[in-house]
Amino acid sequence: MTKPTTPPSPVLDRVLVLEMVRVTEAAAIAASKLVGRGDEDAADAAAVEAMRAALNELAMDGTVVIGEGERDEAPMLFIGEKVGSAQGTGPKIDIALDPLEGTTITAKAGPNALAVLAVAEEGNLLNAPDVYMDKLAVGPGYPEGIIDLAKSPTENVQAVAAAKGVNPDDIIVCVLDRPRHAELIAELRGLGCGVVLIGDGDVAGVIAVTNPETTIDLYMGSGGAPEGVLAAAALRCVGGQFQGRLLFRNDDERGRARKWGITDLNKIYTRDELAKGDCIFAATGVTDGSLLKGVKRLKGGVITTHTVVMRASTGTVRWVSGEHRNKS
Ligand code: FBP
Repeated sequence: MTKPTTPPSPVLDRVLVLEMVRVTEAAAIAASKLVGRGDEDAADAAAVEAMRAALNELAMDGTVVIGEGERDEAPMLFIGEKVGSAQGTGPKIDIALDPLEGTTITAKAGPNALAVLAVAEEGNLLNAPDVYMDKLAVGPGYPEGIIDLAKSPTENVQAVAAAKGVNPDDIIVCVLDRPRHAELIAELRGLGCGVVLIGDGDVAGVIAVTNPETTIDLYMGSGGAPEGVLAAAALRCVGGQFQGRLLFRNDDERGRARKWGITDLNKIYTRDELAKGDCIFAATGVTDGSLLKGVKRLKGGVITTHTVVMRASTGTVRWVSGEHRNKS
């Protein structure tokens, strides 16, 4: 991995990395009670409530920039909501969060549901509207600019294959299993690529390109824009390249983007335009997945959690196994 060149943020220094772990742990534990219970809304609500309570215990002047939706559609953790116990006095932190990334997964007890959070200094995370984003990601160790959303999937596969010293049919690509990706999947299979289809959870899907154990070389396809910013923040910490372009289905979505100050609606964002400067990314597994183990409820009321927390300025990645007692 290349050595990180991001200077540490004195603002983030005041927010302990381990405090972020507590926040995602709380959300994951709350959601875990609803794993396999077939109720997506209840699982999401439990995670949201727990994450909000944990955030409000932190001594910061936090603002949710990516959250559960806009004020009129989300009762808690809406975009613009102030969180933290030191409003006006504490460090000004922008927060991108997804208390339950994979609501359907959780309801069906599938793999890769996460509680996720990224924090950065005020102004350093793109205020992405809740629209779709076309995403392209590759792991660390490739020349800068090797992937390009303006190019076709075939050209991107060929470029990565050449740089890796393999044939295109040796390349493995992760894609969300959606009808809208039929053409993309056909193109990739036409090249002989292995296509790993995931049912949900593209934050974990994108991060998978950074882990050689997954054997996934590339992530391609569209998913939620907020999840794109979260994934970009993670890749800022561990390396890897990411590009995203917002996709709009109607004028209402275009209007919402403009409201958040986005003027060029066709812009291709690089990883560092989505998440700038120093940032901290934390995720706790709700269900077992490629990145993390899920929450386990053991005999005697012990609850175990598995969390990853990383920081851009240091490049440190910590894997935290938690054992919790006296929690429900
Ligand atoms: P939720 O947790 O909001 O259900 O999101 C799950 C997810 O799979 C994301 O990871 C992904 O970005 C998005 O949904 C894709 O949206 P869609 O299901 O509409 O294709």
